[in-house]
Amino acid sequence: MLVTLEGIDGSGKTTAWEALHDSHPDLTYTAEPTDSWYGEAVRRSLADDDADPMADLFLFTADHADHLSRVVRPALERGEVVVSDRYSDSRYAYQGASLAGVIKRPMEYVRGIHQPFTRPPDATIYFDVDPQVGAERAGATDKFEAAGYLAAVQENYETLVGYEPERFVRVDAEQSPEAVLEAVEDALDRILDG
Ligand code: TYD
Repeated sequence: MLVTLEGIDGSGKTTAWEALHDSHPDLTYTAEPTDSWYGEAVRRSLADDDADPMADLFLFTADHADHLSRVVRPALERGEVVVSDRYSDSRYAYQGASLAGVIKRPMEYVRGIHQPFTRPPDATIYFDVDPQVGAERAGATDKFEAAGYLAAVQENYETLVGYEPERFVRVDAEQSPEAVLEAVEDALDRILDG
């Protein structure tokens, strides 16, 4: 089973993912961007305000393809439960937003290039936070963290939730860190119980 954690920057997703290592130690934890050289390339591009958004898309997507073949598919084949901090929906939501005005129907385009090769998540925990709160928490250290941009990303996430409401479990990420963590652990337990 493949479970993903998604949400805008500053939603507390990574903190929760780290805490799950302790509460659910038997699962396989991974993340995108990865720590491979593809992931390194992605981070270089993130730090470059002038990077071409189309080039960004294909760097992130290359990192995903490598992540799938090297980590995710082998773990699933071994019967492990994989929990990924960000996954394909991050591309649909973030690059869907950064490509607005560059190409037509950007989110559909990004989903389309994934469709032939990706392995969709079985369940996704969605960390719901106001973009202004997210931007403040994230401290806007890279080009994708400004409140206006995060609002567009959040709108894309909501569209994705609308497409597949049964896949998403929404967590109110504006609660205290302890309450968020408890909600995430509950959501994960319910997902694992089927
Ligand atoms: P993030 O989860 O913050 O990684 P880290 O904590 O390792 O820096 O992701 C970095 C940024 O990249 C974040 O603003 C979201 C963005 N991102 C995309 O735009 N597209 C993607 O496909 C992924 C995985 C992340």
